[in-house]
This record gives sequence, C-alpha cells and structure tokens, in this order.
Amino acid sequence: MIEIKVLVTSALPYVHDMPHLGNIVGSVLPADVYHRYLKLAGHDTIYICGSDSHGTMFEITAEKLGITPEQLVFKNHELIQEIFRKFNIEFTFYGITHSEENKEITYHIFNKLDENGHLIEEEMELPYCSNCNKFLADRWIEGKCPHCEGLARGDQCDDCGELMTPQEIIKPKCVHCGKGNIEFRKTRHLFLDLPKFEPWLKEWISGKSWSPLVKNFSLGWLKEGLKPRTITRDATWGFPVPKKGYEEKVIYVWFDAPIGYIGITKEWSNKIGKPDEWKKWWLEDCKYVQFMGKDNVPFHSITFPATLKGTEGSWNLVDNLVGSAWLISKDVKFSKSRGRGLTTEDALEIRPVDYWRYVLMSLYPESDDSTFTWEEFRRRVNNELSDIIGNFVHRVLSFTKLNYGKIPGSGELKKEDREILEKLEKIHGEVTENFERARLREALKGVIHLAKESNAYFNNQEPWHLVKKDRGRAATVLNLCCNLVRSTAILLNPFLPESSGKIWKFLKDDSEMEWDSAREIKLSDHEIEKPIVLFKKVTQPELKEIKSKYSKETSEKEGPAESKETPGEPSEEDPFPNLDLRVAEIKEVKDHPNADKLYVFKIDCGEERQIVAGIKEWYNLTFVFNEPFDGLIIRVCVMSIYIFF
Ligand code: MF3
Ligand code: ZN
Repeated sequence: MIEIKVLVTSALPYVHDMPHLGNIVGSVLPADVYHRYLKLAGHDTIYICGSDSHGTMFEITAEKLGITPEQLVFKNHELIQEIFRKFNIEFTFYGITHSEENKEITYHIFNKLDENGHLIEEEMELPYCSNCNKFLADRWIEGKCPHCEGLARGDQCDDCGELMTPQEIIKPKCVHCGKGNIEFRKTRHLFLDLPKFEPWLKEWISGKSWSPLVKNFSLGWLKEGLKPRTITRDATWGFPVPKKGYEEKVIYVWFDAPIGYIGITKEWSNKIGKPDEWKKWWLEDCKYVQFMGKDNVPFHSITFPATLKGTEGSWNLVDNLVGSAWLISKDVKFSKSRGRGLTTEDALEIRPVDYWRYVLMSLYPESDDSTFTWEEFRRRVNNELSDIIGNFVHRVLSFTKLNYGKIPGSGELKKEDREILEKLEKIHGEVTENFERARLREALKGVIHLAKESNAYFNNQEPWHLVKKDRGRAATVLNLCCNLVRSTAILLNPFLPESSGKIWKFLKDDSEMEWDSAREIKLSDHEIEKPIVLFKKVTQPELKEIKSKYSKETSEKEGPAESKETPGEPSEEDPFPNLDLRVAEIKEVKDHPNADKLYVFKIDCGEERQIVAGIKEWYNLTFVFNEPFDGLIIRVCVMSIYIFF
C-alpha cells in the first residue's frame, strides 16, 4: 500500500447542547472509524476536531444562567469531551475555536481577504431593541413564524425550518428583556463577496468525486446564484472585528468556525511543542477529508473554500467531503430537549459502546436518511454482531483451545483451504478500497462478509469430526480458522476497537496490529486464551423493557406507546424476523423427572436458560455426558419461534 498523508476533520460541534446519537453517527464516529483505519494501514494521519464556541445562542443561554458565555463554553467543552471519550472517539487533538491561535489565523485570513478586495461593506436594516438599546443579532429576536405560526428565532423557524428575514417575524420580541419594542435601524456590516468566486467554485466542485448527495447539493446552490455573505455581527461574544469602524462588532461564528480547523491544528502544534507542525497539514501537500452532516455541506463546499481561496495563500482545500444524511427514528427521540428521549448515557447503559458503534455504523446514512428502530437494533446485535462475529470467534477459539490447547501448526493446504484464503484476499482488497474511498458502511459489510465466509468454511470442514479421524487435517483447518479470526479482528478494529482488542488478547498476539497483516497467516503453534462471549443478545423481554423506557411518547389519542409487541415485517434481508435461532452450549443434561421422552437442559446461549427437548427417543445424551469426553462441547441448535398475537 502506498503511504499517504491524510488530514481528517469532523464538523466542530456547537457545545450549546450535548451531542446525541444522531450527531455522533453524522460526523465524529465516521471520522474516527476512518482515521483508525488510516493509522492501521500505516498512513501518516491526524484527526482534528473541537468545540464551535461562538454564536449568539451562547450569549442567550449564559445570560439566562447568569454566567459569562466564556464560562458556559468552557464548562460544556469539558462535558462534551467526556461523551466522546465514552464513545472511544480518538482525536489526535480536540480543541476549541475560542483560542488565541484561532483568533490569530482568523485575523490573518480576514486581513488577506480585505487586502485582496473580497470584503464588501454594506448598510443593512436590522432589528434593534429600543428598551435595551441593542441590535438583536440572530437568535436574540423571537416571534411567530409567518409560515407555520411556530417559534421563529432570528432568521429561521424552529418548528418548520423555513428561513425568513427578521422583518417577517410576527409579533417580534427582544430575548433580553422580553419586550416588543423592536424597530429596524441601519447598521454597517462586512460581506464576503461570494459571487466573485462562482466560476472558480463551479470548476473546482465539478472536478471532485464527492458523493451525489454532497456534489449535487453544492452544484445546486451554485446554480441558484451566490449572494454576498455577512461575516460580522452586532454582538459581544466572538472575536472583535479587526477593522476600523467595526470595533464594536464581532466576527460571525460561521466565519471563524471552519477556520477553527486550522486554529485547532495550530493549538495542537503548540501543545506538543512543535509550533510549525500545523503547516505540514495545511500548507504542504496532503490529502484532506472532512466529515459532517448534510446541513453543514454548503459551508464546507462553498464558503470555506472561497474564504481560503480569496487569501491567495496555498491552503489545503478539502479533497473528500463526506456529508451524511440523517439517522431518523420514529421509535425514539435522540435528544432530551422536548419530552422523553434517549441520551448517550442512556444508550451506554443499554449496551456498551461497541454495540452502538456497530449499530450506528451499520446504519450510517451515507447517501440517504436511514431509520433506527429498536427492532433494528436487536436484529443487528443478535443476527450480526452476536451470530456472525461473536459466534465465529467463540466457536473457533474455544474448540481449538479445547482440542489442541493452542493454535496448531498447519499441514499441507487443500483446494478448499486455498479457496478461503483467496476469499480473504479478495474481501481484504474490497474492504481496503471502500475504506480508502471513505465508504464506511460498505467496508463494514465486507467485514461481516468475511466472518460469514469463515464461519461457513469452519462448518463445511467439520473439524469436530476431523479431530477424531485425522488430527493433522483438523489442525490445518483450525490453524486457518484461528488466523481468520485474527484477520477479522484487524478489519473490525476501526469500527469496534474494544472488541477487536479483546480478540487480540484471546489470540495472545503481542504484535502491533497492522492492516495488511490481515491478509496473512501469522499464527502457528501459538498459545491462546480461552475466549469469553463477546456480545450479549437482546432478548424479547429485554427489548420490551427498553421500548417501554425509551420509546417516544405518543399522544393519548394514539393510545399508550408500544403497548403490544408487533412482529417485524419480513424483508429480503431478514425473511423470518421473528425466528430466533441460536447456538448454545449445553452445560448440563438430566432426565426429565416426569416425562419419559424429555431431557432437561441447562444451556448457555449468551444467557443461562433451562429448556426441555423431546429428543430422548433418538439421542442418548446421558450416555454421552457420562463418557469421559474431556469437556467436549456438544453444540445443539436450540430453536425457539416467537409467535406474536
Ligand atoms: N457547529 C456547527 C454545527 O454543529 C458545525 C460547524 S463546522 C465548522 O452545526 F467547520 F464550521 F466548524
Ligand atoms: Zn430588549
């Protein structure tokens, strides 16, 4: 693989509200997965993110809380990092836009744009509260939306999302004093002369191989024609405008926020004691990949590139702009803002982080909105994480440990062995290709595909028979299977770093994980640990409990939420949504005290269960269990069909 330099950033979150699962899957999580892959693959890479700390909403909330915006921002800056840590988001550096470094770069860029004649001065009529003697920038003015009569704040309605001018708001009020003494006064502002950049932007964007979602959206914006964009505000929280006559105003948050990517890289350089390091990523040749939700796309595909271009400096512009659609859900509200909702803390109480990283990435809304439901959550955890990945790892390692104590050496390879190795090579290539193009959902599908194929190989070779007839051949099969477990751990690592680390520990592999070594057979005649179950299934009763706790409240007319179980709809992917097939380990078997044909089993299928089975006529299991089988695990398929009424 050719080693390259890659700068990764994800949209800088406002720290006004804490991020929810929908925010996490839209930007920081895919960026983290991608960056982890790049590191494993040996690329030279950094992942930069940080808190977007300016904007009028901080002023408003801080005023309500009786603290300064700065206090509010830095308090939340700590809290948000705690959440990201819990999700194992591994930034090279997480900084903040309210820093000396960002101020310096913002001023530098501002001055360059001014020198180069890209800033226009214009007079505007803006709302002014004659009670407070203040201009009311952005969200300081509220009232009724002219479109839906909902809550209009500044230039947008909170309820219907329509944009408007403050003049259109019905019965406007000042948010400081709550009074309606609003007039419109003239004030001067600075604008970035965007229309000038149109021809260049058109050409530059046309040459990009961005996803249709991102590219068409951006070209559509250009087609409508660009307007000059204000970059100053009548506010106090933010960087003061460094220009004569504008000292009382601040720079608009959307101007200094994307510059924050550079500012934060510089902040990091200073922190690590290499003050020039940031230049390596911003001024020297390097691939630049950005992750964000689709609402942020125009700022990254149009305004920010035009801003940098206008300086005439040699800034790196984005190469791959990865914009995600939304993860939506009718089952659950991802934020606590109105009514019941599922916070990140709630989510992590239901299942540890890797379950969420898996489910979220498997639903990653790469091109279209995708839907989260609790049924889907259960299906992904049970049928994919547990049945495919967890089951493969567990059965291979426990069977090998039991029969050989370690990974045995391999004998000569047969056709079917070479076939599975060819599949490994092919899948590894496809997953790599998908990762290189930041197609993460496809990459994850590839990992599952590898585990499925490997599982099928294990089944077809029937090592449980071989071990009795031909221990040498069984050793070869198990050697391959254990190495396939190792490959799975590597490919899975960017998505599920904790679980991958656990598998690595079972394998007692003390080498540094490397992406390309997943293609090779590395372990032979090598000690391993007895594995433990990696993923716990979500049972129907548990699902019911989760739903009753976290499902959206419905209005009384609709009746109580989720009052009865509804069967999942059969689909092409899952034709039997209510069939629950599991492989279980029999812990104990006894004759049924009152029925001749029945055995009583104590089984472990991710949870301890007792079941009875009418198979005594055909299998003499008491005999098997009484024989000195040296702990042989007998696996039976325990099938339970849940019928819903
Ligand atoms: N804070 C913005 C949001 O949460 C995103 C800013 S991205 C940046 O929607 F690049 F401008 F920082
Ligand atoms: Zn007022």
